[in-house]
Amino acid sequence: MEEQIQNLKNQALAQIISSETPEDLESLRVTYLGRNGHINKIVEKIPTLELQQRAAIGRMVNDVRVAVEEALRSQYIDLTTQQKTEWFDPTVPGIIPKIGHLHLITQAIEEISEIFQRIGFVRVRYPEVEWDWFAFEALNMPKNHPARDEWETFFVDTPSHLRYGQMVLTPHTSSGQPREMQRVKVPPIRMINIAKTYRRQFDQTHAPMFHQFEGLVIDKGINITHLKGTIDHFARQFYGPGAVSRIRPFHFRFTEPSFEVDFSCVHCMGKGCKFCKSGWHEVGGAGMVHPNVLRAGGIDPKKYTGFAFGWGVERTLLLKPGVNINDIRTLYGTDLRYLKQF
Ligand code: DAH
Repeated sequence: MEEQIQNLKNQALAQIISSETPEDLESLRVTYLGRNGHINKIVEKIPTLELQQRAAIGRMVNDVRVAVEEALRSQYIDLTTQQKTEWFDPTVPGIIPKIGHLHLITQAIEEISEIFQRIGFVRVRYPEVEWDWFAFEALNMPKNHPARDEWETFFVDTPSHLRYGQMVLTPHTSSGQPREMQRVKVPPIRMINIAKTYRRQFDQTHAPMFHQFEGLVIDKGINITHLKGTIDHFARQFYGPGAVSRIRPFHFRFTEPSFEVDFSCVHCMGKGCKFCKSGWHEVGGAGMVHPNVLRAGGIDPKKYTGFAFGWGVERTLLLKPGVNINDIRTLYGTDLRYLKQF
């Protein structure tokens, strides 16, 4: 009996909730609560029950009656108000949609290009899949020269070009130098070339694909002070007003003289701390463009001089305060907990 009453209640409530018109509700009311309705049928049976059962069954049936009346009332309100007024509350706080953002390397590339564009550099792009001639030979590294080994190059397995040699994945953005000289033909040149570069290396501080930015300035009377001033300007803009750069003598085939470039550590401003030890971080190379490179690009080294520099975007970025990672591969990972912070 108890089970039968429970089932009756479930069935009544399910039908009421799924009813679609006030007329449906009225006929359900008659079916369940009417004089000959299901509930009364049970009530009629109560006197036939054993004495101890009567009170409990009576209470149960009453509960069902109350529940059914309640459900009929609230469904009636729902059906009648829904039809008339479809309204919304403008004071309820909205749901903020999730918005993505540019990857932090892309952000760094944009920041770097803006810094140089503001002082008159032109952003260019040159092929990622490049000919040997632009990547090496025009940069004063003839075939079989041992200096090439440092670039740990990926070679593409295709027939060689008659004049430009083998196809390579460009191992540095310096390949943009002879390309820009060929494009502009007559200086002045102020180029900033930011691109993907490829080398056969993979560890904590190296990825096989990374990004470099290459500056090239060629004009009459360009000298090392212009190079140093440009690098210092970049350091201040990118790392903050107190940042400075330092150049140390080095050797590259495509510049003479050549330098390695360091930036002062943003944590200690050059004094020396646990991040940098010496107070400085090395970022890349620079120098005065070698006359052979100017000649390869069709520019007369007796008339024009120039400077060039090339650094890794990732390396330059990792020195910023707040970026705070010691494995370059984190930048290319998919861990949103890290990437979302920027
Ligand atoms: N291309 C060099 C490298 O990938 C960096 C470099 C050194 C670029 C000296 C320059 C330069 O423009 O003058 O290691």
